[in-house]
Parts: sequence; structure tokens; C-alpha cells
Amino acid sequence: MKKKKILVTGGTGYIGSHTIVELIEAGYDVVCADNCINSDESSLQGIHELTGVKIPFYRVDLCDREHSECIFTDHPDLSGIIHFAALKAVGESVEKPVLYFRNNLNSLLNMLEMCLKYNISSFIFSSSCTVYGDTETCPVDEQTPLKEAASPYGRTKQMGEEMICDCLANSKTQSILLRYFNPAGAHASGLLGESPMNAPQNLVPAITEAAIGKRQELTVFGTDYPTRDGSCVRDYIHVSDLARAHVLALNYLLSGKQAEAVDIYNLGIGQGLSVLEIIQAFEQVTGVKLPYRMGDRRPGDVVAIYSDYSKASKNLKWKPNFGVEDIMRTAWTWEQNRSMKTKSY
Ligand code: UD1
Repeated sequence: MKKKKILVTGGTGYIGSHTIVELIEAGYDVVCADNCINSDESSLQGIHELTGVKIPFYRVDLCDREHSECIFTDHPDLSGIIHFAALKAVGESVEKPVLYFRNNLNSLLNMLEMCLKYNISSFIFSSSCTVYGDTETCPVDEQTPLKEAASPYGRTKQMGEEMICDCLANSKTQSILLRYFNPAGAHASGLLGESPMNAPQNLVPAITEAAIGKRQELTVFGTDYPTRDGSCVRDYIHVSDLARAHVLALNYLLSGKQAEAVDIYNLGIGQGLSVLEIIQAFEQVTGVKLPYRMGDRRPGDVVAIYSDYSKASKNLKWKPNFGVEDIMRTAWTWEQNRSMKTKSY
């Protein structure tokens, strides 16, 4: 039987590269597109080493509609798109809102247009728990009303979800919106992980960078939040669990199990941990003492959020296999491997 072919946008990035490995292992053909402004093409090498497959790669800015269309004329047999490509730093989005709206929304609109034009049956979108805003209820499920987004990044995800609902309402394309909580950790092989071009803004890579000495120390953003220890609470999900969920969502769509044009799933592990608890977990798992200091709140951060993922469990038959210790162990191995390759500091 001919393999189904899937376009993964943002495929050289952190979650994209892990998902490509899972897709290939599940028997899909994959085409990858990325502009590599915040990722490293070398992840394609990691994918090759893990799967033995060299995937077609397009270095393209998806905001450039004409240029992006080449992918679809070259591959008229695409069954689905998994759309990761986007900017994702909450703090940066507060400083550069125009950049975030332009990049995240134009690229999405172009991909939706291609779905319609080339009759692509399935579209999976990287959404985020950020769409719930500064929620008062925890855990949140997919019915929890959305509050005002706390950052322009969050608003691009809220608007992105609405664009998908409107654009695909009367079409042959069905979609799943996956609301990720906080993806972290790296591939168990040590061959894939997060390689941002700029200094990472997310907590776990910031921790591993401070531990290895790439940055002087970690700053804990805010110590006066109304939480059990004053720092923010989040739901950290291992990137491999997240990647596997994309394959299950795709299988679900392609096997015709979804009645709705668009449906939504939370992906987290259903447990909230504070920044200080994450630091403690890192120190316990690795035995490394982390240099950190207490700092001010970061604009755009919400107090606390964690998931109810029972819908993904019920429909997609997904459950997380990894916990915070696995996240810390794999993230630390990845940081050490990466630093050995680029030991210039
Ligand atoms: C946000 C989104 C999340 C999205 C992610 C993409 C929310 C609630 N969540 O995650 O869905 O996947 O952006 O980037 O909007 N922190 C420090 N020091 C640091 C870095 C972070 O204390 O150096 C703290 C933050 O204040 C936050 C926690 O660690 O409380 C996690 O931060 P981060 O990893 O950046 O992710 P979110 O902003 O929660």
C-alpha cells in the first residue's frame, strides 16, 4: 500500500523534528518545510540517523505564498499538513507584536489556502494552553472558556484557531487543534532536542544552559505569585509524548473518525509544577547544583495552568508515558551533547 504523505512545517524545529521521527516510524512519508530562523537544519541529520530516511526539505518562509506553493506543486499527493511553523516566545511577542501577528497569521493563512486549493484532507495545528489566558480554573479542559490572551503570542494562537474554524467550515479539510501545555525534554537517543538560534526563553533550556555554564545563572521570574511557593505553575509535557500525540491525531483524522470539521485537544500531563519545583527536580535528577536567583515577574506570564487531558485519552487513546524526571534527564543529556559539539564558550 502506498504510504500517506504529510507536510510538516517547522519540521527542523524542536517539536517538529521529534514528530517527524514518530511519523516515519508510524509508516508515513514526510516532507519538511522550515525557514530555520529559530532552528537548525542539522536536526535533519538526527532524523536521518534515527530513521535511516532522508526527507525532502524546503527552506522557505511560509509567509511567502508564491515560494511556498512549490511544495504543493512538487507534492500534489499530500494527505495532511502538521503546521508547527511559528514564533513562540511570550516575552518577545510583547516587545515585537507586529512580527508575531505577521509571521504566525500570514503563514497559517497561506497553509489553509493550500489545503483548500490542493484538497488536503487533514490539518493539524500547534495551538497552546496560552489560549486559556489567565484562567481561574485549574485543571482546564477544552470547554473552559477562553479569557483574554496574556500576550500577542497567545492572541496569535487564539486568532489562528478562529481562522481555521472559519476557513475550513465548509471544506473537505478536517482539522485538529492541539493545545500544548509546556513541552520540554529531548529525544531519548540524545540525537534530537531544542536548538534555538537565539538564547532560549523557555524554562528547561534556560536551566540546562545555566547548569552547563552557557549563562551565568537562571532567573526565577516572579516569586510573589499566589501559588504554593510564589513561583508560576505549569504543566510540563515530554516532547516525545507530544510528538506521538500528533501521529495519533493524524491517524484519527485520516481514518475518518472525526465528525466535526474542527476539534480541539489539550496535551499536558495533568499535573502542575512550580518553577522552584522544576529547579529542584533538575538538581535531584542530575546531581548538579543550579546557579539561580529570584527575579521580577516577566510580562505576559500567567499565574498557574495545568491540563485535563481526558478527551485526548478517550478519543485519541493518548496518555503521557514520561514524567518530570525523564524531562530533566533527557534535556540534560541533550545539553551536554550539544555543548560538546560547540565547545567555544
Ligand atoms: C508559554 C505557553 C505555552 C507555550 C510556550 C511556548 C502559557 C501559559 N504557556 O509557556 O503554551 O508552549 O509559551 O514558548 O502561555 N521562567 C523562569 N525563568 C526563565 C524562563 C522561564 O522563571 O528563565 C518561568 C516563566 O516565568 C514561567 C515558566 O518558567 O512561569 C515557564 O516558562 P516558559 O518555559 O517560557 O513557558 P511559558 O511561558 O509558560
